[in-house]
Amino acid sequence: MLSVADIILEHPFMYRALHTITGLRKLHARLISDVLRRYDDPTKLRVLDLGCGPGDTLNLIGDNAGYTGIDVNAKYVAMASRKSPRTASFLVGDVTKLDPAQFQEFDLIIAFGLIHHLGDTDADALLSAASRMLKPTGCVISLDGCRRDGTSPVVRWILDHDRGRHIRKEHEYLTMFSRYLHIETIFTDSSVMHIPYSILSIVGRPECRQPVETRPSTLADVSDRMTMTATMRE
Ligand SMILES: C[S@@+](CC[C@H](N)C(=O)[O-])C[C@H]1O[C@@H](n2cnc3c(N)ncnc32)[C@H](O)[C@@H]1O
Repeated sequence: MLSVADIILEHPFMYRALHTITGLRKLHARLISDVLRRYDDPTKLRVLDLGCGPGDTLNLIGDNAGYTGIDVNAKYVAMASRKSPRTASFLVGDVTKLDPAQFQEFDLIIAFGLIHHLGDTDADALLSAASRMLKPTGCVISLDGCRRDGTSPVVRWILDHDRGRHIRKEHEYLTMFSRYLHIETIFTDSSVMHIPYSILSIVGRPECRQPVETRPSTLADVSDRMTMTATMRE
């Protein structure tokens, strides 16, 4: 059953306002700017934004990138499409049912606020498909609320009232990702936000399926180790 919050947030304007008020928009900007540093020419990337919502992440990528956003919510997609540049396209659809053959060769796949909306089977299907939709040099970046021992009652309350019903513990997200992607970095610092919150952002590459070896605390910590080179879009 939909809660009052669900009904209010269905409206794209309310959704955007909440992102600004909570500082989630700032966190997105920080994560995208970190991940874009890995590419030689971020303006030429092919980007797939899964669960794109009203398409706000596009503003952080730049108008020249080839951008495809997909969301199951037609209202969000309609709003996203309104002001989108020619290089962007928005589709209504269920991202757990994508055919990887039709979505190929992406440099960057974004899944912000998505995985915690998906049960284990759907999340597995999504990550498996994502690993096959990337260029060998590409990466996936996710961001989700995360349950941790010792978080304050306020954070627990916020997580308990999220629209996504599958907020997981850190090791659960990591186990799920490492089945399909090599986990390059994780990021857990939500201090740019204006509310107390607990997050996990993961950057994964389609290189090999090996268990997590290192767990640096910021994306910047390991940016030197990244050797990804973006391929210019034809
Ligand atoms: C928390 S919002 C995040 C939106 C956007 N990524 C952002 O960060 O602003 C989660 C989004 O995932 C979408 N979503 C949830 N399950 C989905 C599915 N199976 N297929 C496509 N979109 C989905 C919702 O409609 C919603 O727009």
